[in-house]
Amino acid sequence: MISVEKRKQEHIEICLRKDVNFTKTNGFEKYDFVHNALCDFDFSDIDLSCEFFGKQLKAPIVISSITGGCEEAERINLNLATAAQKLGIAMSCGSQKAMIKNPECAYTYGIRSVAPDILYLGNIGLDYLKNHENFARVKLALKSIGGDGIFVHLNLAQELSQREGERDFAGSYDDLADFVKFMDEPVLVKEVGAGISSFVAKRLEKAGVAAIDVAGAGGTSWTKVEGFRQKDGSVGRRFGEWGIPTADCLVDCLKSVQTPLIASGGIYDGITACKALAMGASLIGVAGPLLRCANESTETVQKFLENYILEMKICMMLVGCRRLEDLREKNVDILKR
Ligand SMILES: Cc1cc2nc3c(=O)[nH]c(=O)nc-3n(C[C@H](O)[C@H](O)[C@H](O)COP(=O)(O)O)c2cc1C
Repeated sequence: MISVEKRKQEHIEICLRKDVNFTKTNGFEKYDFVHNALCDFDFSDIDLSCEFFGKQLKAPIVISSITGGCEEAERINLNLATAAQKLGIAMSCGSQKAMIKNPECAYTYGIRSVAPDILYLGNIGLDYLKNHENFARVKLALKSIGGDGIFVHLNLAQELSQREGERDFAGSYDDLADFVKFMDEPVLVKEVGAGISSFVAKRLEKAGVAAIDVAGAGGTSWTKVEGFRQKDGSVGRRFGEWGIPTADCLVDCLKSVQTPLIASGGIYDGITACKALAMGASLIGVAGPLLRCANESTETVQKFLENYILEMKICMMLVGCRRLEDLREKNVDILKR
């Protein structure tokens, strides 16, 4: 088994079997909705639909980047994608570096047979874009999976927790800006659980990215994952709680940039999702819990998401908001710190 494939498999196994969640919270508990006891609409009229990059979503949810490139990835991605198609939400795949390095595993990213209509986003690490000859390879890989856009992930803390991790990030900003110019498709940027600060968000906006997923602390900790995976995992363990809580990222980035923001990192229920939307997030991302569901079946994924969407709708009714726009417009009146 080649090393990228082995690493992908280990990531799945560790995330399924070990406690890789942050001890610190995502920060949303500091905010509370104001209950609205007098509501003037029918529950069935609540509308969570929205548009993102030209595609209509039935709910503002994206299944965050999880996997691709190892045997289990095919089953997991198909389980996720089947549910995403049924529920009309978006999905992203794991890093496509594995399929570029080993085209034989490209099939593990293929979801269009079960999800022809969803917004499907590819994924690549910024370190892979250091060599600009890789731009064309990434574009081709995105095309081959029927991707509508691509996430570039920034995972500095994770890389530094790996013995074999990347160390040379010289010129990263220029690599990203050049990649954005090179691609015709939207280029989005995400963290993997350590969060995006307002300072970084401003630089990303300047580089021209189409959206930013703050992917903050409070859910899966990738330094903890590496703490389990490495032979000597002391660095990963030491930095296991490293990162900006998701709510803090969101509040700070919303003040600093106009670029659409995706909120993710420990947003595991519909009430927290609505708080992030009321603050101004365009979309909510979830990874960790969906991996565990997808490891079981597509029905389990669907059930988790249906429940999540139900919680969102109940929350919307309890704050008197029928549409997502109402949540955003009324935010200062309905969400208190
Ligand atoms: C098994 C697994 C593999 C992941 N692989 C990737 C990846 O290849 N690229 C990426 O950008 N993020 C990856 N992530 C990170 C997630 O997209 C997400 O940012 C992070 O887990 C925090 O979100 P959560 O708290 O909802 O899990 C992975 C997550 C999981 C659980």
